[in-house]
Amino acid sequence: MLLPCVRRVAARRLSRDLPLACGCPAQGPAPRGYSRGAGGKGLVLGVYSSEKDDGAAQFTSAGDAFDRLVSGKLRELLSLCGPPLKKGKTRIFHGLHQDFPSVVVVGLGKKNAGVNDQENWNEGKENIRAAVAVGCRQIQDLEIPCVEVDPCGDAQSAAEGAVLGLHEYNELKQKKKPIVTPQLHGSAESEAWQKGVIYAEGQNLARYLMEAPANYITPIKFAEHIEQKLRSFSNVKVHIRPESWITTEQMGAFLSVAKGSTEPPIFLEIHYLGAANTDDSPLVFVGKGVTFDSGGISLKPSSGMDAMRADMGGAATICSAIVTAATLNLPLNIIGLAPLCENMPSGKANKPGDVVRAKNGKTIQVDNTDAEGRLLLADALCYAHNFNARAIVNAATLTGAMDVALGSAATGVFTNSSWLWTHLYEASILTGDRVWRMPLFEHYTKQVTDCPLADVSNVGKYSRAGGACTAAAFLKEFVTASHWAHLDIAGVMSNKDEVPYLRKGMAGRPTRTLVEFAARLSQDSHNAK
Ligand code: BES
Ligand code: ZN
Ligand code: ZN
Repeated sequence: MLLPCVRRVAARRLSRDLPLACGCPAQGPAPRGYSRGAGGKGLVLGVYSSEKDDGAAQFTSAGDAFDRLVSGKLRELLSLCGPPLKKGKTRIFHGLHQDFPSVVVVGLGKKNAGVNDQENWNEGKENIRAAVAVGCRQIQDLEIPCVEVDPCGDAQSAAEGAVLGLHEYNELKQKKKPIVTPQLHGSAESEAWQKGVIYAEGQNLARYLMEAPANYITPIKFAEHIEQKLRSFSNVKVHIRPESWITTEQMGAFLSVAKGSTEPPIFLEIHYLGAANTDDSPLVFVGKGVTFDSGGISLKPSSGMDAMRADMGGAATICSAIVTAATLNLPLNIIGLAPLCENMPSGKANKPGDVVRAKNGKTIQVDNTDAEGRLLLADALCYAHNFNARAIVNAATLTGAMDVALGSAATGVFTNSSWLWTHLYEASILTGDRVWRMPLFEHYTKQVTDCPLADVSNVGKYSRAGGACTAAAFLKEFVTASHWAHLDIAGVMSNKDEVPYLRKGMAGRPTRTLVEFAARLSQDSHNAK
């Protein structure tokens, strides 16, 4: 016999014993008689795809408990709604329980999903993040201000899905999306939930800074925002170095970019002393902080140029990772360095062919003023060598070529250290914000050191070929440390719809991977080198 249509079943139930089931995705207002925001909360529950032929819903333990609470009505309604829910698909039920006027059930995919060796990530965690994000957004569409979330067996991933999935840059709009506060459903795993909230809020801070317009996040505003976030920590010191300091430090490459703009440059320096021994060698993070990259005299095409407000994504992700590390009270020392400036065309700007001198004395021919990130980083990397670092890790939206190579699937990692690579890689499997190792061959070095007027050119001599690799080879000229990694994050800078738990916009990637990496390093104690 054919099942009657879901809506008709729902209507019949409503007239009979009240609970209203709606088998369709949540859209529009809640049915009459069901208050929104008046005390009741939303509830997001996960359900695994069925392994057995009977098609019965395979609830999580929270789902099972809730189903018992409502005398099996949830299971009954779900089976009336049709075939088992596929991964990421939802059904919403109104009026099942007085404390939860709206319940979203969302498909989690396979029950025992774990690390997927082909995909280089933990599929189970990714499924939870994606499912919870979808569920929470449906609650937001219903304008319910509070949602309880099923931990789905991994409360950290669930919290990440909720907090990342609900984030949106609303700052400058008069009409804002309703604020929804996610909470853990049940009392178990509250520590893991809290950890997930902190990781996700860290990434959201980077997203906020990257998304904000360049006239709001100037170098000084960026530095002040980060300083304010770190103000309450007694074990953090923030130095906002002005132009005079940068000049004294002889950072000629950085200054050559900054002088094209009327907005003064800043060198932001953060010291987080989380280790029991404040003298322990620190992890040093360096981030490209170009708050707007017009290309300079080698002007970029106007179409899409607005995205270059996020060209401080390296600085945003490393600073946000330090804010997160401090919040988690990670037991290690971290130094953060962010050269911040604009890249603009003007009468004072770098001209193609100009030669500038970096902090280590090397001369650089600026063959293309749009390859400005490596000029800032050259000086910041030289400076990073002052701290006897355990490792130096820099992040930069450095090359369009990186986006061409990997797209948004993974951050490209160029490193001289397999020890460092292993830590970054293992961290990324957990976070789902993946990394992929790229080459630092002498082959590319030759293409930047074969330069007519200076020690090194800021572009490879075969112009676009291997652009991400020649940029990395250029940076290597300013590194003597034996544990250094350069993360080219240009490809992962923004999200269209590739990462299901991030809305469209600047992505703040790979903040969580940097945090997880730092957490692992803090456990790898002192014999790490
Ligand atoms: N900030 C850009 C790279 C970029 C492009 C980041 C797209 C994110 C998305 C960088 O400063 C740049 O313009 N690089 C040039 C280098 C070239 C001139 C050698 C590029 O990639 O085209
Ligand atoms: Zn550029
Ligand atoms: Zn740039």
